[in-house]
Amino acid sequence: SKSYKIAVLAGDGVGPEVMAEALRVLDCVEQKYGVTFQRTPANVGGAGIDNEGKALPESTVNICRASDAILFGSVGGPKWENLPAEEQPERGALLPLRKIFGLYANLRPAIIFPSLTGASSLKEEVIAGGFNVLVVRELTGGIYFSQPKGIEGEGRERVGFDTLRYSVPEIERITHVAFQAARKRGKKVCSIDKANVLSSSVLWREIVTTISKEYPDVELSHMYVDNAAMQLVKWPKQFDVILCENMFGDILSDEAAMLTGSLGMLPSASLAEGSFGMYEPSGGSAPDIAGQGIANPIAQILSTAMMLKFSFGMLEAADAIDSAVATVLEQGYRTHDIHQNKPGEKLVNTKEMGDAIIAVL
Ligand code: NAD
Ligand code: IPM
Ligand code: MN
Repeated sequence: SKSYKIAVLAGDGVGPEVMAEALRVLDCVEQKYGVTFQRTPANVGGAGIDNEGKALPESTVNICRASDAILFGSVGGPKWENLPAEEQPERGALLPLRKIFGLYANLRPAIIFPSLTGASSLKEEVIAGGFNVLVVRELTGGIYFSQPKGIEGEGRERVGFDTLRYSVPEIERITHVAFQAARKRGKKVCSIDKANVLSSSVLWREIVTTISKEYPDVELSHMYVDNAAMQLVKWPKQFDVILCENMFGDILSDEAAMLTGSLGMLPSASLAEGSFGMYEPSGGSAPDIAGQGIANPIAQILSTAMMLKFSFGMLEAADAIDSAVATVLEQGYRTHDIHQNKPGEKLVNTKEMGDAIIAVL
């Protein structure tokens, strides 16, 4: 029977809590589909600092290299916020992982489940009938990684600075990802930029337009990021695939998540060339609720489904997880973040939500 190797990097805060449920879902998939998932846990983020002295220990990188995919929880939290910036969980582990493994394409599907329209921050008439937006975020370039960056000088003379660079090949490859995704769904790409101010955006818009000629069946539009932030709240159904550079995609994907009810619902896949990928919820370690066992595990579970689909080609199992999630939401199961005090809702904790999904699976 088939066997896949998974590096399990649960990380900090609610990371290990929601990861536990994703792993139980994987147990269930093993039984149902006769596959084996060889899982190797490894320290990352604050857990790496506390246990091995580094946010991204060598041993963790080696475990990831020896695996077919990385299942990632979340990293960071108040405990590590006073360390030098480059040693903290985010810049010391998460960003290097994305860079080391060439995970340039971040897919964040914001889908509103019909039974959750009440949890959205938007009015019923705006989201009636649901919506399905895919944020395609460039993940290994732009202002996150470009050099030079730093803080120079002394005292009040100090300057902090970052650089936003994009090369033609970097823009080309993420544009192809967006258009290929659009081809399989609503056949529209809206490319987000700030071409009225940023030179990197002028080049971005030019290259996206050139690449779009290879996809005559897909409609391209361009939108400034400030307008896009507004349009997402005003009428999200106008969007199909949203193509963004790294930081714009970070911001707009949190916004898109809330339209669907909660950040705890938004999964993500970070893909390299080939089948390798890292799969993680779009949200963070949620220090405000960590340790209470009440976090929503759905983003982690849907990220696991994305791993089955994109890295292992297990489309049927991925669909089964997606529909099990839809079913438990219809049955009324709600973690606190999506709980509306409506009749028929059952307020559950992290583990009970996992139980409900597994029961349906
Ligand atoms: P956050 O995403 O951790 O939390 C924002 C809000 O969303 C909080 O109110 C939180 O309770 C809620 N939330 C997030 N996930 C949830 C879930 N699964 N269930 C229910 N509610 C959930 O963002 P933040 O507070 O800005 O950041 C906290 C820490 O996480 C920081 O150290 C940040 O750098 C880090 N972070 C990590 C990742 C990652 O590892 N991929 C992503 C974002 C933020
Ligand atoms: C995300 C997170 C990360 C990002 C942080 C924690 C570095 O916000 O995955 O969206 O900005 O990419
Ligand atoms: Mn983010």
